[in-house]
Amino acid sequence: MKSIFFLLVLFGSFCSGFAQTTIIPEPASSQMEEGKALKINQIRFFCQPGQEVLVRNFSQRLAGFGIKLKDTKQANLKTANLVLEKVSQVSGKEAYRLVITPEAATVQASTDAGLFYGLQSVLQLAVAAPLASGMQISCGTIQDQPHFGWRGLMLDESRHFFGKEKVKQLLDWMAFYKLNRFHWHLTDEPGWRIEILKYPKLTSVGGIGNYIDPKAPATFYTQAEVKEIVQYAAERCIEIIPEIDMPGHAAAANRAYPEFSGGGSERYPEFTFNPGKEETYRFLTDILTEVAQLFPSKYIHLGGDEVHFGNQQWNTNADVQALMKKQNLKDLQAVEFYFINRMSKEVAALNKTMIGWDEIVTAGIPASQCVTMWWRHDKTEQLNLALKQGYHTVLCPRIPLYFDFVQSASHKSGRYWKKDFASLEKILGFRSFYNETLSSYPELIDGIQANIWTETIHSAERLDYMTYPRMAALADVAWSRNPAPEYKDFIRRMQPSFRLYQEKNISYFNPENPESTPEIVGVKK
Ligand code: ACM
Repeated sequence: MKSIFFLLVLFGSFCSGFAQTTIIPEPASSQMEEGKALKINQIRFFCQPGQEVLVRNFSQRLAGFGIKLKDTKQANLKTANLVLEKVSQVSGKEAYRLVITPEAATVQASTDAGLFYGLQSVLQLAVAAPLASGMQISCGTIQDQPHFGWRGLMLDESRHFFGKEKVKQLLDWMAFYKLNRFHWHLTDEPGWRIEILKYPKLTSVGGIGNYIDPKAPATFYTQAEVKEIVQYAAERCIEIIPEIDMPGHAAAANRAYPEFSGGGSERYPEFTFNPGKEETYRFLTDILTEVAQLFPSKYIHLGGDEVHFGNQQWNTNADVQALMKKQNLKDLQAVEFYFINRMSKEVAALNKTMIGWDEIVTAGIPASQCVTMWWRHDKTEQLNLALKQGYHTVLCPRIPLYFDFVQSASHKSGRYWKKDFASLEKILGFRSFYNETLSSYPELIDGIQANIWTETIHSAERLDYMTYPRMAALADVAWSRNPAPEYKDFIRRMQPSFRLYQEKNISYFNPENPESTPEIVGVKK
């Protein structure tokens, strides 16, 4: 009897027209009503003081997507058609409830982030069904909150520099898909991209060159630009985490200040800092002191990856040899771990927490003082070791979360791992792939992140091509509790995004119609 009743209710709800949304990432729960919509040609908003910036950002985004509205104005609760309400009942740092009736859209949340994400859902509903003038959004109720607190994207601007406007555009799309961490890889071998006032040659000398042209004029962000971008991101609920890579991947800094170089190898010249010199620690701590002041995030990423690529000269460097004797360090890895431990303490002294790539999990840093990023997908033992030792961990394995890998077997340009690559299907299936790990250590997995390394990404167009639509798939798996969003449904929900990409001249890849979006290839060194 009960099941017949249930079937009748289910049948009834189909008849009364519950519709699916096209929102990405997929909301935790949504009940939309077919055929009923809120139509607006002027936003009349009601909110608490201080939340106007959220409405301003929202109406600018609508205008940016070509939705023409009369000037947005403040109204009282009775006449408003967009209401933002802070309510403690909607618990969860980023949770929101959205109720849309033919009279008004009401976003409820206990935080500004929740209100912001509710507005992003309104924005996505609005762009899914644009009107010639004004907007219409389907009526219904959405209750939503993310699974992971860390939903990140990393951009490498050392190998290629894209500049302020491109970064802001990336942040806009991240916000649209409710991603909330931008990891900024600002230093490496080809170029140093952040102004440090105490050491101006880092940018005037170290900023010269990129991956394909070592003589390209210096490009970098001034401290004023960094502050502007950090503020821009914060208004979109995105925290920026800077990475200053050490002790390897240091060639750009070493060109500027060779006195702190620890040498390199034939393939990776001047690759490391010199861990045997006290002056090196002062130099790097001075740099981190300026970085700490520029970025409000509690994290600073110190890299720590691939040191063995170019630390062979430590074997013959008198300072390093003296350090090994004094500290009783038996080999080069012990030197590397001594260095990273010391620098993690300098980060802690700046009231920040260090993040490092997964090489650092054997360095003996206390788990309370560091977060790790698991990137070597072929070394699951490194992930297990991190978790066993209690490290908070962000998952960003090369397959499927390095976006410099190709996304289709038909693509020629970009990386492959043997024959493997980072397709949309693989990204969407990522959660079910790692479900066992996730369920064993739910409190230690902070979230997931995709990384865009730019050896093969030399232009804004190619950056787009490698980013979209994979950024949306990343958001779906990072936000939704659904272990593996279905590919077909993802493509259905992507339709408004595909249209927006076209309107905004984003050079995306359309896996359903690849001929319409031919591969934008990279250039080789
Ligand atoms: C890395 O890809 N070297 C973290």
